[in-house]
Amino acid sequence: MKNVVLIGFMGTGKTSTGRLLASRLGRPFVDIDRKFELECNMSVAEYFKLHGETAFRQKEKAIIAKVARYSYSVIATGGGSVLDPDNFNKLKANGIIVSLTASVDTIVERTGRRKGTRPLLDCENPREIVAVLLEQRVSIYQKADFIIDTSILSPHQVAERIISFL
Ligand code: S3P
Repeated sequence: MKNVVLIGFMGTGKTSTGRLLASRLGRPFVDIDRKFELECNMSVAEYFKLHGETAFRQKEKAIIAKVARYSYSVIATGGGSVLDPDNFNKLKANGIIVSLTASVDTIVERTGRRKGTRPLLDCENPREIVAVLLEQRVSIYQKADFIIDTSILSPHQVAERIISFL
């Protein structure tokens, strides 16, 4: 049985939706960032600070290679993980890919609530970074089987939409 894999930018609700969806479907929930933090025994932000983004991406790739072999799970990915085509293809080989999107305003507002947890947005003007990164990433997020704009939906509503699609 295939996984359901949530991809999309930071602040689009992958973790909250994934957790709800897994509980509604009675499937295991795997959050790649949380798994990373458990394996490294530190937060993603701390890891970035100590080792940098390249080392983070290598370790993230190793975790994705393992998790992509699971089945029947709901998997929430980190927002930048699927930029690596190997990661995307592995997840796709054994999963239905659902992309969550949101407007720049929504992303800035949601990510601003938990300052310090997203190293890429830890700067004076996160809005500009969000806009630039989104522009770079949009074509990859669009390769999903199903795309949902979460800007005006609650995680419950997003989970229900995913269920109706499955
Ligand atoms: C990142 C997204 C984060 C985390 C890391 C890098 C990105 O995950 O993996 O800070 O490059 O978009 P979330 O999308 O769960 O915030």
